[in-house]
Amino acid sequence: MSQVRFDGRVALVTGAGGGLGRAYALLLAERGAAVVVNDLGGTARGEGQSSSAADAVVAEIKAKGGKAVANYNSVEDGEKVVQTAIDAFGRLDIVINNAGILRDKTFTRISDQDWDLIHRVHLRGSFMVTRAAWPHLRKSGFGRIIMTASAAGIYGNFGQANYSAAKLGLLGLSNTLAIEGAKYNIYCNTIAPVAGSRLTETVFPEELVKALTPEFVAPVVAYLCHDSCVDNGGLFELGAGWVSKLRWQRTRGAVIEGSMTIENIRDKWGQITDFNQFDYPTSITESMNTIMSHLEKRKLGSDAASSSGAVDVNA
Ligand code: NAI
Repeated sequence: MSQVRFDGRVALVTGAGGGLGRAYALLLAERGAAVVVNDLGGTARGEGQSSSAADAVVAEIKAKGGKAVANYNSVEDGEKVVQTAIDAFGRLDIVINNAGILRDKTFTRISDQDWDLIHRVHLRGSFMVTRAAWPHLRKSGFGRIIMTASAAGIYGNFGQANYSAAKLGLLGLSNTLAIEGAKYNIYCNTIAPVAGSRLTETVFPEELVKALTPEFVAPVVAYLCHDSCVDNGGLFELGAGWVSKLRWQRTRGAVIEGSMTIENIRDKWGQITDFNQFDYPTSITESMNTIMSHLEKRKLGSDAASSSGAVDVNA
C-alpha cells in the first residue's frame, strides 16, 4: 500500500510547541514535509512567552532527520509567522490553525479581557495567519487549511461562552474560505478534536488525559492536508480513534398561510420544529432558493396582514 507523503510541501502549524500541534508537526515532518513550528510559549491562559516550546519540537523533528524551523510570534502577528516559512523554505502549502488558550468563566464573570484575548488568539489569530498565507498558497497552486473549532462551540459548554463563540466563528470563516479558495485548489476544513493536553488536563481526570493522545487526531488532520483528500468545507468531530463528519440538518418547516401573526406561528410550532421531515442544505443558494420559492408560491398581495400585531410579508 502506498504511503501518504508530503515531500516538497511546506506546512505551518500554529501552537505546535505542545499538545495537538506538536503531534501534527511531528507527523507531517516524518512524512516529508518541511514544517514551521510556531508557538508563543505562554501559559494556557495566554500569559507570558518563551521560545522553549517551539525549539523543543524543532529539535525533536531534526533529531529524526526531518526539516523544521521555529517561529515564536503570536498568531496575531500572522505576517511574521508566515514570513518564517517563506524565508526558511521559499513556499507554503499547508496551514494548520491550532494555537489556543482558555479563559473559562461563567457568563457574567467574563471580563472584557477574557473575551477579547480568546477572540484575538483563536479567531483573529487564525484570520491573520491565513490571510497572510493566502497569496503564498495561491502561488503554490495548492493549499490546505485547517481551522480548529471545538465541541464547546458546536454544542455550547458551561463556562465557555467566550471560547464557544470564537470556536464557532472559525467554522463560519472556514465555510467561506472553502468557497473562495476552491478555484485555486485551496481547501479549508474544520476539526473539533478531543485530546489530552495542557488545555484539558484541568478538566479531564489524569488517566483520560493520558489515554486520549493527540496521536489519535494527527493522522486525520494530515489526511485533510493531503492532495488526495477532496473534502472542502467539512467539519469533523474526532478523538480516541473515532472520526466523524458533521452537517447541518433543517426541518422541512411550515408555511404560514394567511396573516403572519404570532398566533399562527404558535399553532405551527410543532411542524416548524419537527425533525421527522428534514433537509440537508449545503449552500446559501439552496437556503435562499427555499425562501424564494415560498415567496413565489404565496399569492402576492392577497395575504397582507390585516389584524393588529401582524406583519405584511409583502412590504
Ligand atoms: P495546548 O495548550 O497543548 O496547545 C496549544 C498551543 O498553542 C500551546 O503550545 C500554546 O503555547 C500555543 N499558543 C497559545 N497562544 C498562542 C499564540 N497567541 N500564538 C502562538 N501560539 C500560541 O492545547 P491543545 O489541546 O493541543 O489545543 C490545540 C487546539 O485544539 C486549540 O485551539 C484548542 O482550543 C483546540 N481544542 C482542543 C481540544 C482538546 O480536547 N485538547 C478540544 C477542542 C479544541
